[in-house]
Amino acid sequence: MKTEAPGKIILFGEHAVVHGQPAIAVPLSAVRVTAEIEPAGCGGGVTVLAPDQNVTLHLIGASEKEDRLYNALAYPVEIALRALNIPMPDVCITIRSTIPIASGLGSGAAVAAALIRAVGIAVQRPFTNDTLNPLVYEVETRHHGTPSGIDNTVIVYEQPVYFMRGSGSATEQRPNTIEPFQITNPFTLLVADSGQSSPTHITVDDVGALYRADPNRIGALFARIGAITRAARATIEQKQGESGTLYTKLGALMDENHALLRELTVSSDELDHLCDAARAAGAHGAKLSGGGRGGNMIALVTPDK
Ligand code: MEV
Repeated sequence: MKTEAPGKIILFGEHAVVHGQPAIAVPLSAVRVTAEIEPAGCGGGVTVLAPDQNVTLHLIGASEKEDRLYNALAYPVEIALRALNIPMPDVCITIRSTIPIASGLGSGAAVAAALIRAVGIAVQRPFTNDTLNPLVYEVETRHHGTPSGIDNTVIVYEQPVYFMRGSGSATEQRPNTIEPFQITNPFTLLVADSGQSSPTHITVDDVGALYRADPNRIGALFARIGAITRAARATIEQKQGESGTLYTKLGALMDENHALLRELTVSSDELDHLCDAARAAGAHGAKLSGGGRGGNMIALVTPDK
């Protein structure tokens, strides 16, 4: 038996979404994590194999090891067992992934989603997407302190999502806004890898520090990114017949979003160069996607380009 989870692309709104603005993400189904489930010998506990990383983990009891790779594979299993309230089963799970690591395409959340699904299937108590999503969020929290929740949501439900983070305060509890939406007018994106890996938690922390140091200026950048995201959604959802302007409008919004992400210090020379090269080759717009300072760029292109 096998479980899966896709990669993801943030179309608009990364970083600002951590601070309460909306963002749009789509699943990237061409790259995926798969988790294959096989029974293991009695008393063997859970074994997680990641042959591409040359890693074999034997999980027999509770563990508090604080290693990132260990956490990426073991923590989802621990969370799944805790949610199901069951002792360690005997099972072997083999994880394979075509999603590049630390490159803004959601590799961590996809590994967690596929692993937690695998544990549920192994003990014949499969998770629904609604029960899985908060568990993957919990894993994300361990990896990078203050995730907005958009990555786990788009990866678990595997559909385009307009997302706004909720807030919890003493006076108000606002849940996340998760609005799946239709892409009325399909469009083509080129995804290009800068070849630099960049852990999301570092750029998220740095943007948080910028905001604390200068809340007025950085808050205004977040607000502008939020406005771009709302305009992008309206453009993507516009009725057929108005689509002639889709590429022009969406491309300009991507360019502006990228410029604002540069101001938030999360671009890099390589990402700027990829965006410029894409535009020079005829793309209607381009931006970094995800945490930034590496990872991937997306460009809006017509299929003939
Ligand atoms: C990462 O894919 C998107 C960020 O906005 C972080 C987050 O939303 O958790 C950079």
